[in-house]
Amino acid sequence: MKGNREESRPFGSISDIEARFAAEGYIADRMLATTLFLSASLGKPLFLEGEPGVGKTEIAKVMARALDTELIRLQCYEGLDSNAALYEWNYTRQLLELRLQEARGVDRAHIGDNLFAEEFLLQRPLLKALRSEGPRPPVLLIDEIDRSDEEFEAFLLEVLSDFQITIPEIGTLRAHHTPFIVLTSNRTREVHDALKRRCLYHWIDYPSFAREVAILRVRLPEVELRLAGQVCRFMELLRGHDFYKRPGIAETIDWARALLALGVAELNTAAVDETLGCILKYRGDSEKLYQLGLPALVETALMPGHDPAAAAKPPA
Ligand SMILES: Nc1ncnc2c1ncn2[C@@H]1O[C@H](COP(=O)(O)OP(=O)(O)O)[C@@H](O)[C@H]1O
Ligand SMILES: [Mg+2]
Repeated sequence: MKGNREESRPFGSISDIEARFAAEGYIADRMLATTLFLSASLGKPLFLEGEPGVGKTEIAKVMARALDTELIRLQCYEGLDSNAALYEWNYTRQLLELRLQEARGVDRAHIGDNLFAEEFLLQRPLLKALRSEGPRPPVLLIDEIDRSDEEFEAFLLEVLSDFQITIPEIGTLRAHHTPFIVLTSNRTREVHDALKRRCLYHWIDYPSFAREVAILRVRLPEVELRLAGQVCRFMELLRGHDFYKRPGIAETIDWARALLALGVAELNTAAVDETLGCILKYRGDSEKLYQLGLPALVETALMPGHDPAAAAKPPA
């Protein structure tokens, strides 16, 4: 079923998205806001790709809050199959129904006739999103699709292509309204072109210094502008190096929180050393950081030239 006009154009403009996301604590840049706007207006799934911790999953959560609708999440993993993603038969309920029919004295020839009806399905996320009867279309988050197998991808392609599901015993179930679909990938492998073709694609990069300061200030208003600038500058420097796992925005927020808890007002080598576990989560990476020279990196992060005050206003 096609959504009505209000359903298919839930946002007035690109700026409207930026504002509503900001109100929910998410700083979206113009390109992301444009893609979100188009995705919502055209009813096309959104495919978000990027390193871990750059804010992909959060977009679906914020979208659901901004649209005041339900978030339905399918976390992908290796071996994920249609039973876990789509539906299963509720054997217990079927068995119970059988007993009830026997007790009611239903004609033997007709016992069990209605056992494969929609009411005996256990809805898994995809079916749940398709059959959702809420006042507004739900947001369906298919998270970390790169973790699933290629067979699952092919199956997903079918579901996404026409928002309907065929259950052999029942027939074809169509979506009550088209969900807003967000797929994410950490790009541990390439996702098939055919799947990407069905979606609007957006690559999320690490934020610029200015944006990261803005994010940090929104998420952690207690952090002083000066410290926020030093933290984000240090993160920017780190990401310029080839670590096994570069720190994401989640690490920036965690780290700043840790520094606040320790009463650190200005970045210094000892404080970074004590809190390194918030930033780098692999032993090899911390060793690499010491090889690079931690004091020199801290010193660079403290150098003037990056004005966090200018950065506090999100760039247009
Ligand atoms: N643009 C942003 N504005 C506000 N917070 C953000 C932004 N990007 C990321 N974050 C925060 O960073 C953390 C990691 O984001 P997440 O969505 O889990 O990353 P990913 O799914 O890409 O691994 C979350 O706490 C999220 O709220
Ligand atoms: Mg994620």
